[in-house]
Amino acid sequence: MTLQGKVALVTGGSRGIGRAIAEALSAAGASVATCHADDPPAVPFPVALALPADVSSEVDVVCLFDRIEAELGTPDIVVNNAGILHEAPLAETSVTDFDRVIAVNLRGSFLVAREAARRMESGRIINIASDLGLLGRENMAAYGASKGGIIALTRSMARELAPKILVNAIAPGPIDTDMTSPGAMSPEALAKDLDTPLARFGRPGEVAALATFLAGPDASFITGQCYGVNGGSVMT
Ligand SMILES: NC(=O)c1ccc[n+]([C@@H]2O[C@H](COP(=O)([O-])OP(=O)(O)OC[C@H]3O[C@@H](n4cnc5c(N)ncnc54)[C@H](O)[C@@H]3O)[C@@H](O)[C@H]2O)c1
Repeated sequence: MTLQGKVALVTGGSRGIGRAIAEALSAAGASVATCHADDPPAVPFPVALALPADVSSEVDVVCLFDRIEAELGTPDIVVNNAGILHEAPLAETSVTDFDRVIAVNLRGSFLVAREAARRMESGRIINIASDLGLLGRENMAAYGASKGGIIALTRSMARELAPKILVNAIAPGPIDTDMTSPGAMSPEALAKDLDTPLARFGRPGEVAALATFLAGPDASFITGQCYGVNGGSVMT
């Protein structure tokens, strides 16, 4: 129970990686709030608050923090996990599609981190990027750009918010969630995802284990880093 007494926010916590992180932080003793888009958690899970909030909306993000502060206290741990994928050839990517991916993935991470920086005296921010933010991927320019932006945002925030708030990123490789289900991604992209040394999809819990470590007392000298949980897709 290394996170006993801590308050955590996990965005995009209704399913997939975010849900696994919320469960893991909760199991480590934290009081956890999650937010989600239009898909509330399908079955109850052990979080103190599960709220609808669009992370791309400044108003929603401020209201989300107000509600968490009123009910649980100021967050000590903030996990920027909410994200969307858009797969289309560059020539067929509309401005609307590009802007939406950047708005949710990158602006959302900025808005949530900015609110955290305004309110937190100390703590941890963990940003969920992607191996595609490092590797790039055909037909995923907007997504890759948003995730590369998150890695850059992490480094600037880590410098600026030190030593009070430690900021790190996790760049997962292919993880078995709704985002990587056959209907959500093309067969070609899914086949590429399996082209790693470990040749399998990871489990959300395998990302959650690292997030829990980065949120905890043993990660006290780590900031500005980007860690892969990726089956070997990126080696640095
Ligand atoms: N699954 C993968 O292979 C993989 C790989 C690398 C990175 N990631 C990243 O991990 C994160 C979680 O991915 P996942 O696979 O669990 O996805 P998912 O589609 O299963 O879940 C996405 C979550 O984000 C929430 N969300 C979406 N738009 C939102 C918005 N505007 N405001 C608030 N919440 C919103 C949804 O409600 C949901 O809870 C994303 O940032 C994704 O880009 C996933």
